[in-house]
Amino acid sequence: MKVGIIGCGAIANIITTSIVPENNGIEIAYFFDKDIERAENLASFAGGVAALDFDEMVDNVDLVLECASPDSVKHFAPKILKKGRDMIVMSIGAFMDMDFYHEVEQIAKQNNAKIHLPSGAIVGLDGIKAVAKFGLKEVSLITRKSPKSLGKDIDDVEVLFEGKASEAVKEFPLNINVAATISIACQRDIDVKIIVDPNVDRNVHEITAKGDFGEFKTTTMNYPCAANPKTSMLAALSAIRLLKSFNETISVGM
Ligand SMILES: NC(=O)c1ccc[n+]([C@@H]2O[C@H](COP(=O)([O-])OP(=O)(O)OC[C@H]3O[C@@H](n4cnc5c(N)ncnc54)[C@H](O)[C@@H]3O)[C@@H](O)[C@H]2O)c1
Repeated sequence: MKVGIIGCGAIANIITTSIVPENNGIEIAYFFDKDIERAENLASFAGGVAALDFDEMVDNVDLVLECASPDSVKHFAPKILKKGRDMIVMSIGAFMDMDFYHEVEQIAKQNNAKIHLPSGAIVGLDGIKAVAKFGLKEVSLITRKSPKSLGKDIDDVEVLFEGKASEAVKEFPLNINVAATISIACQRDIDVKIIVDPNVDRNVHEITAKGDFGEFKTTTMNYPCAANPKTSMLAALSAIRLLKSFNETISVGM
């Protein structure tokens, strides 16, 4: 499988440096970034191409992995899907715009393409998907991050946001992909609280789900990526797992 990457930052670096040395049938062949130097650095590590021409990249790969920004998803996804190429999207907040969601879903269907949204920086999405249509009554997310990772300079614990995921994504587009992922998985606008906490050095996500099935709670305490404190290591690892799953015969925990 040939892959092209949009966005050669923290997530792309972790994915590329993990996948390339394994030589396991996943060839990351093209790298695209608005900062060409970043694309060149990763291309040189992977023995791939730093793409100057976006269309040329899409024409020459089976799948495009987006790890750039929500705006890049809105700009590039329709073009990629119209060419019948599959996508993995990391900037999942883009899909909280329901008009966009339905537009790209339609384009993907018409062109026999698939859009994959990895579980990202949380655990528990398998359970949420399983119970979504079976009496799920309540889903909530509490995200707790350090001032650094939220770009704040404060000394006390503060609730930055309390409301619906669709609103959280507008206010914190680069920080709250997790809320978007859960909302899309259970097809509802979940309750979100974002807390900035000077006492934590991890990105902490607590999910609670209640319904006819019973109840579960998960807590994920993520180490941030060194290259980008907003981003959790686990987010990149979940994309690596997803990429590898395409070549597997037996799937578990999907
Ligand atoms: N799904 C999840 O759980 C999850 C978790 C963490 C981050 N993310 C999202 O993944 C994305 C990447 O995260 P990261 O930590 O690697 O970010 P990063 O800032 O380290 O890297 C992003 C790269 O994309 C490039 N870029 C941005 N917009 C572009 C565009 N329009 N065209 C070309 N290149 C562009 C930047 O130049 C940069 O090199 C972000 O949108 C982030 O919010 C998702």
